[in-house]
Amino acid sequence: MVPTMPDGPLLLGDVHGYSMIRLQGVTKIYPNRQVAALRGVDLAIDKGEFVAVVGPSGSGKSTLMHIMGALDRPTEGEVCVNGQRLGDLARLDGFRLRTVGFVFQSHHLIPMLTAAENVEVPMVALGLSRRARRTRALELLARVGLTDRAEHLPSQLSGGESQRVAVARALACNPPLILADEPTGELDSESAQVIVELLGELEREGRTVVMVTHNHDVAAAARRVVVLRDGRIIGDRRCLDT
Ligand SMILES: Nc1ncnc2c1ncn2[C@@H]1O[C@H](COP(=O)(O)OP(=O)(O)O)[C@@H](O)[C@H]1O
Ligand SMILES: [Mg+2]
Repeated sequence: MVPTMPDGPLLLGDVHGYSMIRLQGVTKIYPNRQVAALRGVDLAIDKGEFVAVVGPSGSGKSTLMHIMGALDRPTEGEVCVNGQRLGDLARLDGFRLRTVGFVFQSHHLIPMLTAAENVEVPMVALGLSRRARRTRALELLARVGLTDRAEHLPSQLSGGESQRVAVARALACNPPLILADEPTGELDSESAQVIVELLGELEREGRTVVMVTHNHDVAAAARRVVVLRDGRIIGDRRCLDT
């Protein structure tokens, strides 16, 4: 089977009629935990939105990201991502690979692989040839301004550069949805700004971007801010002036 690797522009704008993410009555109770991490969350995020998720530590932000990104399943409620009801899927990994690019607080690069090889990793699962992987990895590294770092190991990169490699890796399978959980949490303000600008570019090319942040300046880059507290959404505001 020839793997599908959409190289052209995303055609996200052509598909109307459903949200990128729709959560209905989502509750998450971790095993051996009394208190629910999410309690009856209803949330719809349209295709192409750039949303910041804010809230105190322990309010459920990462749990929400894991559930939206098909890394975990809710205890109760329905999750629909890119038109697919996740509850209908026996396995989430294939769906996740094609649909979601993750950026975490720590870059989670594999230490013994070069920057380019790290970007190639998700493409192996997609079944791309060695040459196609290499070409695409170099394109993506160029995109995040790291052409001259392709052969560097993570230990030879700064924190900001490593996170840019992580953004390139998140784009490896051309996902329509990018989920970033405190992507600037470990960066100086200049490097943070570069990451936020990259995420903004991803929004402008039609991807949906959801980003958890503690930083108000970073949150200001988003067009919508969702506020979580004790596993519930207590605020949801759209910024009209951006
Ligand atoms: N894997 C887990 N097992 C048990 N409890 C967890 C797990 N992950 C998170 N929690 C708990 O769920 C709640 C929400 O956590 P989390 O989603 O990580 O919040 P945030 O990202 O906003 O800090 C916290 O009380 C946390 O301790
Ligand atoms: Mg968290």
